[in-house]
Amino acid sequence: MDASDISDDLDQVLLTEDQLHQRLDELAATIDADYAGRELLLVGVLKGAVMVMADLARRLHVPVQMDWMAVSSYGSGTKSSGVVRILKDLDTDVTGQHVLIVEDIVDSGLTLSWLLANLRSRGPASVEVATLLRKPESAKVSLDVRYVGFDIPPAFVVGYGLDHDQRYRNLPFVATLAPHVYADD
Ligand code: PRP
Repeated sequence: MDASDISDDLDQVLLTEDQLHQRLDELAATIDADYAGRELLLVGVLKGAVMVMADLARRLHVPVQMDWMAVSSYGSGTKSSGVVRILKDLDTDVTGQHVLIVEDIVDSGLTLSWLLANLRSRGPASVEVATLLRKPESAKVSLDVRYVGFDIPPAFVVGYGLDHDQRYRNLPFVATLAPHVYADD
């Protein structure tokens, strides 16, 4: 999928494929340096993190395992409520492991706040977070996110894993959505 497939639905490209890949190169180099001599358990949060997980993991040189969680917010509509239920739990016992949560976006921060508490309660050696995108102006909780790709404005963004109504995840870049697409939400 590229922009020509859905040009009417997009407002503007916020981050090009080249910008995403260049930033992932930098993040991977930092993570490699920080975890030198250790093994990492990457925990991807379905479904949005699929692209960043695949592209970040392939750039890392430290040994990694990869596992996945799927979570869902209780409550209304598209907004995160902070009350989360697990749809798919990890297959891995994280006790004593160095865990790196991999997210596509931290918006209100409520999902991540819950995930951090949940994973920390399982006795890992460490838990840190890598997110491709963060919306600082939307934050409802203050979180220590160690690896951030890009801070972005509070616009509706899609692509590179991020969806609107489950669509646009397979765009290779991040774009803002044209208002007419989500006007009836
Ligand atoms: C998105 C994203 C984060 C969460 C961030 O997931 O992947 O997990 O929302 O929002 P928050 O900071 O306001 O809690 P979503 O629930 O849209 O599911 P998806 O990954 O399957 O698209």
